Amino acid sequence: MESNSDTYHVPVMLTESLEGLNIRPDGTYVDVTFGGGGHSRAILQQLGEGGRLLAFDQDADAAAVASEVSSDANFTFINENFRHLKAFLRMNGVRQVDGILADLGVSSHQFDTATRGFSTRLDGELDMRMDRNSDVTARDLVNSLDEEDLAKLLKLYGELPNARQMARAIATARKEKEISTTFDLRDAVSRHLPRGMENKYLAMLFQALRIEVNGELDALKEMLLQATEVLRDGGRLVVISYHSLEDRLVKNYMKSGNFEGKLEKDFYGNVLAPMKMVSRGAIQASDEELQRNSRSRSAKLRVGEKIRS
Ligand SMILES: C[S@@+](CC[C@H](N)C(=O)[O-])C[C@H]1O[C@@H](n2cnc3c(N)ncnc32)[C@H](O)[C@@H]1O
Repeated sequence: MESNSDTYHVPVMLTESLEGLNIRPDGTYVDVTFGGGGHSRAILQQLGEGGRLLAFDQDADAAAVASEVSSDANFTFINENFRHLKAFLRMNGVRQVDGILADLGVSSHQFDTATRGFSTRLDGELDMRMDRNSDVTARDLVNSLDEEDLAKLLKLYGELPNARQMARAIATARKEKEISTTFDLRDAVSRHLPRGMENKYLAMLFQALRIEVNGELDALKEMLLQATEVLRDGGRLVVISYHSLEDRLVKNYMKSGNFEGKLEKDFYGNVLAPMKMVSRGAIQASDEELQRNSRSRSAKLRVGEKIRS
């Protein structure tokens, strides 16, 4: 599928993200999920002399778009997983930054390209890798995990109420024939999709596999930990997440500095956390945006500020 920066992805909560970053024209910013560059482009527009943007994306398709977005010296694209945030910033001569933006998950381009295997609506190879150089695909998982492990995965990452039944259906179907496409998988579980909720259950199943294939939650945790190390005092971390597993990690981390959300206090009762939440609850898309862009429906944006040490 052909795609350029105009058709690749419509950025979600663009105004709210920029407000959250609180951009200084001469500051250094990182967009760890470049995608189609919607957020990056807007950040670049707010930067002036001395300002710099570094953008990460592990997908080579995003790299092609990055060269369209800017060839200026103040923009650096890094075709890597953001779990290596600190190392690649350092490699580019950057030790501290003023703001980091993460717009998690997959882009519309990835969803809408059948051969990537992310979409429940399109028939394609059951792949789901954001980084096509990585080893394990969704096809590998559904054909090799034993039924018990598959059920655990579907429960944990898909929060599927009937994870066991689904896992059994997959284990039965693959005895007949390898499950190699998105529609093979859909057909294998079709009898276990509750009426009227078919799409919802399929989406949960695909989400579980995608999270595992891409190690999404571990990468997020590693990035959050490094974000507090590289942010300057007063620097901002803006994260947009699309499901509760991610949002819980982000919320707990911003509130308490750990992923369990356990508040630790010093002798005087002050909370010992590297960040403070700038907004109390999660920010959600406006009615106008919800009407215009259905992808914004599940988005939750949180802003943290590095506490001056
Ligand atoms: C929702 S899209 C971002 C869209 C972007 N904000 C825009 O306006 O076009 C998420 C992007 O992040 C990338 N991504 C997700 N997890 C990543 C990770 N751990 N490391 C690097 N890139 C990642 C995906 O490949 C995808 O292109």
